[in-house]
Amino acid sequence: MKRLPFLHVLFLFAAAGLVLMTLGWAGQSSAAAQEPSQRGPYTATSFGPWNAAVAKTHVPEVTYEKAGTALTVNVKVDNHPMDAQKPHFIQWIRVEDGNGKLLAKKIFKPTDPAPAATFHLASIPEKLKVLDHCNVHGTWLNEVDVKLP
Ligand SMILES: [Fe+2]
Repeated sequence: MKRLPFLHVLFLFAAAGLVLMTLGWAGQSSAAAQEPSQRGPYTATSFGPWNAAVAKTHVPEVTYEKAGTALTVNVKVDNHPMDAQKPHFIQWIRVEDGNGKLLAKKIFKPTDPAPAATFHLASIPEKLKVLDHCNVHGTWLNEVDVKLP
């Protein structure tokens, strides 16, 4: 008789585990359907549930030039829509140093004409981590080593 409650508890845990596993698997069967905007950052070569074509329109393009002791960084997310109707747009672009310290950020509205920004950094980091965030396709990253002549 003393073993009966233990078996009941064991059965309940097993049943709960089965339910959780089933829900988890069902949720992963369509990765794109699960709030993908909360995942990432994705890159040109590691784009999660997306494909290379999606990566091409989301990975931020980065150019830079020295401006005295500072650095001017130009970022654009080429060919990405800024569509307020769906909505589908780039919500922000941020620039971090190699350690992930935020150096600059620009926030966009879906009615902005294009997801592009110019940042004037006070110092010149060895590495830039440039990220953007699409409300549909999540966060995308481009890491760039800063090499100046
Ligand atoms: Fe997108």
